[in-house]
Amino acid sequence: MPIDRRTLIHSLPVAGAAIASLAPASALAGSASSSPRQRIRLDEGWRFALGHAADPDRDFGFGDFQRTFAKQGRAAGPVALAGYDDSRWREVTLPHDWAVELPFVKNIRFNRNPADKDDEDLAAAHGYKPIGRNFPETSVGWYRVTLPIAPADAQGRVALEFDGAFRDATVIVNGYIVTQHHGGYASFGVDITDFLNTDGAPDVLLVRLDASLGEGWFYEGAGLYRHVWLIKTAPVFVPRWGVFVRASRDGQVEADVEIANRRDARADVRIEALVLDAGAPVASAQTTQSVSAWGDKTAALTCKVASPRPWSTDTPNLYVLRVTLWEGESILDVHELNFGFREFRFDAREGFFLNDRPLKLKGVNNHQDHAGVGAAIPDALQIWRLKQLKALGANAYRAAHNPPTPELLDACDALGLLVIDETRQMSSAPEPMDELRRLVRRDRNHPCVMLWSIGNEEPQQGTARGAKIAKAMAREIRALDPTRKITAAMNKGFGEGITEAVDVMGFNYHEELIEPFRLKYPDMPIIGTETASAVSTRGEYARDETRSVASSYDVDAPYWGKTARVWWKLYNAKPYLLGGFVWTGFDYRGEPTPFNWWPSVSSNFGIMDLCGLPKDIFYYYQAWWRDDLPVLHLLPHWNWEGQEGKTVEVWAYTNLDAVELFLNGKSLSRQSPPKDGHVQWSVPYAPGRLVAYGFKGGKVVLKAQRETAGAPARLVVESDRMRLTADGQDVAIVNVSVRDKAGVIVPKAAVRVDFDLIGAGRLIGVGNGDPNCHEPDKAPFRTTYNGWAQALVQTRKTPGDIRLTARAEGLTGATVGLSSR
Ligand code: GAL
Repeated sequence: MPIDRRTLIHSLPVAGAAIASLAPASALAGSASSSPRQRIRLDEGWRFALGHAADPDRDFGFGDFQRTFAKQGRAAGPVALAGYDDSRWREVTLPHDWAVELPFVKNIRFNRNPADKDDEDLAAAHGYKPIGRNFPETSVGWYRVTLPIAPADAQGRVALEFDGAFRDATVIVNGYIVTQHHGGYASFGVDITDFLNTDGAPDVLLVRLDASLGEGWFYEGAGLYRHVWLIKTAPVFVPRWGVFVRASRDGQVEADVEIANRRDARADVRIEALVLDAGAPVASAQTTQSVSAWGDKTAALTCKVASPRPWSTDTPNLYVLRVTLWEGESILDVHELNFGFREFRFDAREGFFLNDRPLKLKGVNNHQDHAGVGAAIPDALQIWRLKQLKALGANAYRAAHNPPTPELLDACDALGLLVIDETRQMSSAPEPMDELRRLVRRDRNHPCVMLWSIGNEEPQQGTARGAKIAKAMAREIRALDPTRKITAAMNKGFGEGITEAVDVMGFNYHEELIEPFRLKYPDMPIIGTETASAVSTRGEYARDETRSVASSYDVDAPYWGKTARVWWKLYNAKPYLLGGFVWTGFDYRGEPTPFNWWPSVSSNFGIMDLCGLPKDIFYYYQAWWRDDLPVLHLLPHWNWEGQEGKTVEVWAYTNLDAVELFLNGKSLSRQSPPKDGHVQWSVPYAPGRLVAYGFKGGKVVLKAQRETAGAPARLVVESDRMRLTADGQDVAIVNVSVRDKAGVIVPKAAVRVDFDLIGAGRLIGVGNGDPNCHEPDKAPFRTTYNGWAQALVQTRKTPGDIRLTARAEGLTGATVGLSSR
C-alpha cells in the first residue's frame, strides 16, 4: 500500500479587541494612563531581508567560523549594531509572512521519481512554497528595528513580547543574544533592560528566524507574522501574565497577583484590585505585601460583584480587572485585563451547559491563513473572519493545532465564541512543557477558553508512554488552572493510552467508535474535536479530477470524513454529545485534499474559501445552526449553456417550513425540508430565472433566486466597512464581483482585475479563493475565480481618503471610496 501523507504523519515516531473603554480614574485606584507601564506595539519601522540557511556569506556572516556565542555583545557582527546600513533591506509592517510572498514551486525532491505522488504529497502539505531545508535561500529571514527607548526607561524594566514568530527565533539586542525560541506558535518574551545602551545610542533589535524546520502538515507561514510588543514598567511591577482571575456566576472574583521586585530595596506594596463594568467600578479589594529586593510574591485578593451580567456566546459581557500597585502615594503599576462571569458544565449524559443552559457546540477548526496575507493576519481581518463564523451560526472555534495569537482570543471574548485552546507538541520534555505552561498562563483569564487540548492525533495516543506524557501535561495544566477541563483530539486508541489523562474525550472522525467508547467510559463527556472534512470548491458543481475541483453539492468527503448533512445529523441527534467542530471554517493553504498534488495549493475543506467567501455549504450550516435567522439558499448557479433539456439537480438549504421552486414562472412543487436536511428537485435546464419562495406558517417570508447571467459587463466592488481607523493596522475587506448588464453575477467569470489605490492606504494582498491558482498574493491584480476576487486594503497612520479602483479589460470598472480617520 502506498504511504500517503496522512499515514506518514500519523505514524511518525513519537516525537484587546474590545477592551471596554475605561472611565476616568476612580478615587479607589490609579488609571492605566497614570501608570508607568507602557505597552508599545512594534509594528512599524521594520526592515526585512532574506538570509541563508546554509551559507553564512549570504546570511550576514551569522555563524561564521563558529563565532556566534564566543563573545556576548558580538553575536552577529555589525548587522546587530546601530550604524549598520540597512537601507537595502525592505521596509515591512508587522504582521509579516515572507512565505506568502514567495512563488509556488513544485518542490518535489528531484532525486526521487517525479511521478512519486507520496513524495509530492509532502510538498503539497505546506502549500508548495519554497520553505524548508531544500530551500536554504528562502527559509531564513532577518528583521531589524530601532527600539523606541527613552532615557527615563533606564529607571525601570524593559521587556520584549512576541505573540509568536515562525520559527527558530534568535533575538539579538545591541549584539547580545537575549533569547532563542524554537516553537513557531507559542508566545514568548524576554527582559532586555540590561542590554540597552547607556550612552544614548540607538538600541537595535535584530531577529533572525529560520523556518527550515516545520511543525505542521499544513501551510505555516514564516516570519514575524504576529505582533511584537515593547513593555516598559517600573522596577516593581506585575510580570507577564502575572494575574490570574477566577470569577464565578454568583459574582465572586478571586485574583492572584504576582509582584516582581527588580531593585535593590525592599518594596512595601499596596495592591488594589478593582472590577470595572463598562468603565464603572463595581467591586474592589486590597491587600499589602512586602517584597524583598529582587524577590517575587503572589497576593491573593477576593471581592464580590453584585448580580454580575454573565458572559455567554449570545451576550459576551466583559468586565475589566484593574490591578494597581501602590508604594505610598505613588503608583508603581496598573495592569488591566478582561474577564467574564460564566460557568461550564460538561455532562456525559446531557451534553454541554453554559451558565446552566444546554448549548450544543457548533464549532469550526481553523488554521491561521487568509488570502493575500497568509499567516500574517491583521487584527481587523481576524475579527472579520470571526464575524463570518458568527454569521454562520458557529459558537465555538478550535485553534488547530497550535496556540493562536492572543488577539484572536480577545476577539472571541468580545464576540462570544468558545475556544478549544491547543498546544502544539504533545510532549513532557522541558521545551514543549514550557510552551504549554506559557499557553495556560497567557490564556487562562479569557472567558472564551473552554478547554485545553494537549494534542491532536498523536502517535502515542493509545500507548502507555502516551499516558505518562499526557498525565504530566495534565498535572501541569491543573496546577496553573484548576478551573478548566482538558481534552485531546484522538483518532485511534480511544479508551487507551492518553484517555485516562483527559476529562473530555475528543473524537476526530470515527463516529462509529463513539458508542463502544461510551459503554466503557459512561462518565466521560465526548466532543467531536474534528468532524466533516467534507470538500467543496466554491462555485463548482461536479468533481473534476482534471481541473482539481470538488463539487459544491454536499456529496464529497474523503474516506475518513463525512458530508455536512451526515455528521451534523448524527451529532445533533445525540444529546449526550457536546457538539462538534467542522474541519474547517475556512480553506487554508496546504493539504490540498482531495487533489493532493500540483496544481492544487490549498485545501477544499472550508465552509468558506481562502478569502472567506461563503461556499454553498455555508448556508446549510447557517440554516440549522441559527435559529434566530430565516435562511433560504438555492444552488447551483443557473448558467448551463449547452445543457438545455438536461437534468440539473437544484438544492435548497432552508430552516423554513416549506420551499416552492419555480422555473421561468412554472411551479416545480413545494417541499418541506427534513430536520437538518435539504430539499431537492431534478430540473430540466432552460435558461431564465429559478425562483424559490420560502414559507413559514403558511406565509412567504423569503425569496431566493438564480438567474442565467449574460456576458460579463461590469465590476462591482463592496467593502465590509467604509470608515476605517488611521492606525496603520485597520483593514477593509473589499470583494469584487463580475456582473452582466443587468447586475447578475456571472458565475464562471475569470477576468483579470487590476487594482489602483490612491490615498491614505495600501493594498496588502489579493485573492480569489481558487485552490489551484498560482497568481501572486502580493500584486495589484487578480483574476476572478467563479465571479469573485478580493483585495485587502490597510490604512496608514496618516488619516485621509482612500480610493480603490478595480478595472478589467472590456468591462466597466468600479471604485470604492473609504475614509480613514
Ligand atoms: C485530521 C488532522 C487535521 C487535518 C484533517 C484533514 O486528521 O487532524 O489536521 O489534517 O485531518 O481531514
